[in-house]
Amino acid sequence: MAEWTGFLGVTMLWVKAAHVIFVIFLMAGLFMMPRFFVYHHQCAVGSDEDRKWIEREDRLRKIILNPSLVIVWILGLMLAFNGGYWSQGWFHAKLLLVLLLSGYHGWTIGYFKKLKRGERPLSEKRLRMLNEVPGVAAAIIVILAVVRPF
Ligand code: HEM
Repeated sequence: MAEWTGFLGVTMLWVKAAHVIFVIFLMAGLFMMPRFFVYHHQCAVGSDEDRKWIEREDRLRKIILNPSLVIVWILGLMLAFNGGYWSQGWFHAKLLLVLLLSGYHGWTIGYFKKLKRGERPLSEKRLRMLNEVPGVAAAIIVILAVVRPF
Protein backbone atom coordinates (compact mmCIF):
# COMPACT_ATOMS: atom_id res chain seq x y z
CA MET A 1 0.00 0.00 0.00
CA ALA A 2 1.23 3.50 -0.88
CA GLU A 3 0.69 4.66 2.71
CA TRP A 4 3.26 2.18 3.99
CA THR A 5 6.11 3.13 1.70
CA GLY A 6 7.77 5.68 4.02
CA PHE A 7 10.56 4.97 6.52
CA LEU A 8 7.98 4.11 9.20
CA GLY A 9 6.58 1.18 7.19
CA VAL A 10 3.45 -0.38 8.72
CA THR A 11 4.34 1.36 12.03
CA MET A 12 3.03 4.52 10.34
CA LEU A 13 -0.53 3.42 11.20
CA TRP A 14 0.40 3.22 14.91
CA VAL A 15 2.07 6.63 14.73
CA LYS A 16 -1.04 8.04 13.03
CA ALA A 17 -3.31 6.48 15.68
CA ALA A 18 -1.14 7.98 18.45
CA HIS A 19 -1.19 11.35 16.62
CA VAL A 20 -5.00 11.38 16.60
CA ILE A 21 -5.20 10.20 20.26
CA PHE A 22 -2.98 13.07 21.43
CA VAL A 23 -4.89 15.49 19.18
CA ILE A 24 -8.00 14.51 21.19
CA PHE A 25 -6.20 15.18 24.52
CA LEU A 26 -4.87 18.51 23.21
CA MET A 27 -8.29 19.63 21.98
CA ALA A 28 -9.93 18.60 25.28
CA GLY A 29 -7.43 20.83 27.10
CA LEU A 30 -7.91 23.71 24.66
CA PHE A 31 -11.70 23.52 25.12
CA MET A 32 -11.44 23.33 28.92
CA MET A 33 -8.96 26.10 29.62
CA PRO A 34 -11.01 29.18 28.50
CA ARG A 35 -14.08 27.63 30.19
CA PHE A 36 -12.04 27.47 33.40
CA PHE A 37 -11.09 31.13 32.79
CA VAL A 38 -14.78 32.14 32.67
CA TYR A 39 -15.43 30.47 36.06
CA HIS A 40 -12.15 31.84 37.41
CA HIS A 41 -13.17 35.39 36.44
CA GLN A 42 -16.25 35.07 38.64
CA CYS A 43 -14.31 34.77 41.91
CA ALA A 44 -12.53 37.49 43.87
CA VAL A 45 -8.75 37.89 43.50
CA GLY A 46 -6.94 36.25 46.43
CA SER A 47 -9.99 34.21 47.55
CA ASP A 48 -9.87 30.45 48.24
CA GLU A 49 -11.82 29.85 45.02
CA ASP A 50 -9.23 31.92 43.11
CA ARG A 51 -6.42 29.72 44.45
CA LYS A 52 -8.36 26.56 43.55
CA TRP A 53 -8.84 27.70 39.92
CA ILE A 54 -5.14 28.61 39.66
CA GLU A 55 -4.27 25.10 40.81
CA ARG A 56 -6.74 23.46 38.37
CA GLU A 57 -5.47 25.54 35.44
CA ASP A 58 -1.86 24.84 36.37
CA ARG A 59 -2.54 21.09 36.43
CA LEU A 60 -4.39 21.21 33.11
CA ARG A 61 -1.43 23.07 31.59
CA LYS A 62 1.26 20.76 32.99
CA ILE A 63 -0.47 17.38 32.69
CA ILE A 64 -2.61 17.72 29.54
CA LEU A 65 -1.96 20.79 27.42
CA ASN A 66 1.83 21.12 27.20
CA PRO A 67 2.72 17.39 26.88
CA SER A 68 -0.06 16.82 24.30
CA LEU A 69 1.07 19.76 22.13
CA VAL A 70 4.68 18.52 22.09
CA ILE A 71 3.64 14.92 21.29
CA VAL A 72 1.16 15.99 18.56
CA TRP A 73 3.91 18.06 16.89
CA ILE A 74 6.55 15.29 17.12
CA LEU A 75 4.21 12.62 15.73
CA GLY A 76 2.76 15.00 13.10
CA LEU A 77 6.23 15.91 11.84
CA MET A 78 7.21 12.21 11.76
CA LEU A 79 4.14 11.55 9.59
CA ALA A 80 5.00 14.52 7.37
CA PHE A 81 8.58 13.29 6.81
CA ASN A 82 7.28 9.76 6.30
CA GLY A 83 4.71 10.78 3.68
CA GLY A 84 6.72 13.60 2.06
CA TYR A 85 3.75 15.98 1.89
CA TRP A 86 5.86 19.14 1.84
CA SER A 87 4.69 20.33 -1.61
CA GLN A 88 0.97 19.54 -1.16
CA GLY A 89 -1.59 22.32 -0.72
CA TRP A 90 -3.68 20.62 2.00
CA PHE A 91 -0.53 20.16 4.07
CA HIS A 92 0.50 23.84 3.74
CA ALA A 93 -2.99 24.91 4.84
CA LYS A 94 -2.96 22.40 7.70
CA LEU A 95 0.45 23.61 8.85
CA LEU A 96 -0.79 27.21 8.86
CA LEU A 97 -3.81 26.28 10.96
CA VAL A 98 -1.84 24.12 13.43
CA LEU A 99 0.53 27.06 13.89
CA LEU A 100 -2.52 29.24 14.63
CA LEU A 101 -3.81 26.61 17.09
CA SER A 102 -0.36 26.46 18.74
CA GLY A 103 -0.50 30.26 19.07
CA TYR A 104 -3.91 29.92 20.73
CA HIS A 105 -2.36 27.35 23.08
CA GLY A 106 0.37 29.91 23.92
CA TRP A 107 -2.29 32.56 24.54
CA THR A 108 -4.10 30.31 27.07
CA ILE A 109 -0.82 29.78 28.98
CA GLY A 110 -0.12 33.55 28.95
CA TYR A 111 -3.66 34.35 30.11
CA PHE A 112 -3.36 31.78 32.92
CA LYS A 113 -0.22 33.58 34.15
CA LYS A 114 -2.11 36.90 34.14
CA LEU A 115 -4.99 35.41 36.17
CA LYS A 116 -2.42 33.99 38.58
CA ARG A 117 -1.04 37.53 39.09
CA GLY A 118 -4.57 38.76 39.85
CA GLU A 119 -5.13 40.44 36.45
CA ARG A 120 -8.42 40.07 34.54
CA PRO A 121 -7.71 41.76 31.19
CA LEU A 122 -10.60 40.33 29.12
CA SER A 123 -14.37 40.37 29.60
CA GLU A 124 -16.26 37.08 30.03
CA LYS A 125 -18.01 37.75 26.73
CA ARG A 126 -14.66 38.03 24.94
CA LEU A 127 -13.48 34.80 26.62
CA ARG A 128 -16.59 32.96 25.47
CA MET A 129 -16.00 34.20 21.94
CA LEU A 130 -12.35 33.09 22.01
CA ASN A 131 -13.58 29.68 23.15
CA GLU A 132 -14.94 29.14 19.61
CA VAL A 133 -11.48 29.39 17.99
CA PRO A 134 -10.18 25.85 18.73
CA GLY A 135 -13.42 24.17 17.57
CA VAL A 136 -13.48 25.96 14.22
CA ALA A 137 -9.73 25.42 13.68
CA ALA A 138 -10.00 21.69 14.55
CA ALA A 139 -12.92 21.18 12.14
CA ILE A 140 -10.98 22.72 9.23
CA ILE A 141 -7.75 20.87 10.15
CA VAL A 142 -9.54 17.49 10.22
CA ILE A 143 -11.20 18.17 6.82
CA LEU A 144 -7.81 19.15 5.36
CA ALA A 145 -6.08 16.04 6.79
CA VAL A 146 -8.82 13.53 5.86
CA VAL A 147 -10.39 14.89 2.63
CA ARG A 148 -7.23 16.62 1.32
CA PRO A 149 -9.35 18.80 -1.00
CA PHE A 150 -6.36 20.42 -2.73
C1 HEM B 1 0.96 20.07 15.16
C2 HEM B 1 1.36 19.78 13.95
C3 HEM B 1 0.77 18.71 13.09
C4 HEM B 1 1.43 18.12 12.06
C5 HEM B 1 2.85 18.43 11.59
C6 HEM B 1 0.52 17.13 11.49
C7 HEM B 1 0.82 16.32 10.41
C8 HEM B 1 0.02 15.29 9.95
C9 HEM B 1 0.29 14.47 8.78
C10 HEM B 1 1.51 14.61 7.88
C11 HEM B 1 -0.73 13.59 8.63
C12 HEM B 1 -0.93 12.58 7.50
C13 HEM B 1 -0.49 11.21 7.84
C14 HEM B 1 -0.65 10.32 6.63
O1 HEM B 1 -1.78 9.89 6.34
O2 HEM B 1 0.35 10.04 5.97
C15 HEM B 1 -1.67 13.84 9.73
C16 HEM B 1 -2.84 13.13 9.94
C17 HEM B 1 -3.87 13.58 10.71
N1 HEM B 1 -3.88 14.71 11.50
FE1 HEM B 1 -2.24 15.91 11.89
N2 HEM B 1 -0.65 17.15 12.18
C18 HEM B 1 -0.56 18.11 13.17
C19 HEM B 1 -1.58 18.47 14.05
C20 HEM B 1 -2.89 18.04 13.96
C21 HEM B 1 -4.03 18.63 14.65
C22 HEM B 1 -3.94 19.82 15.60
C23 HEM B 1 -5.14 17.91 14.28
C24 HEM B 1 -6.58 18.08 14.64
C25 HEM B 1 -7.10 19.13 15.23
C26 HEM B 1 -4.70 16.87 13.38
C27 HEM B 1 -5.53 15.90 12.83
C28 HEM B 1 -5.12 14.87 12.03
C29 HEM B 1 -5.97 13.77 11.59
C30 HEM B 1 -7.44 13.56 11.94
C31 HEM B 1 -5.18 12.95 10.77
C32 HEM B 1 -5.60 11.64 10.09
C33 HEM B 1 -5.92 11.86 8.63
C34 HEM B 1 -6.20 10.55 7.88
O3 HEM B 1 -5.49 9.58 8.02
O4 HEM B 1 -7.15 10.51 7.09
N3 HEM B 1 -3.34 16.98 13.20
N4 HEM B 1 -1.20 14.88 10.49
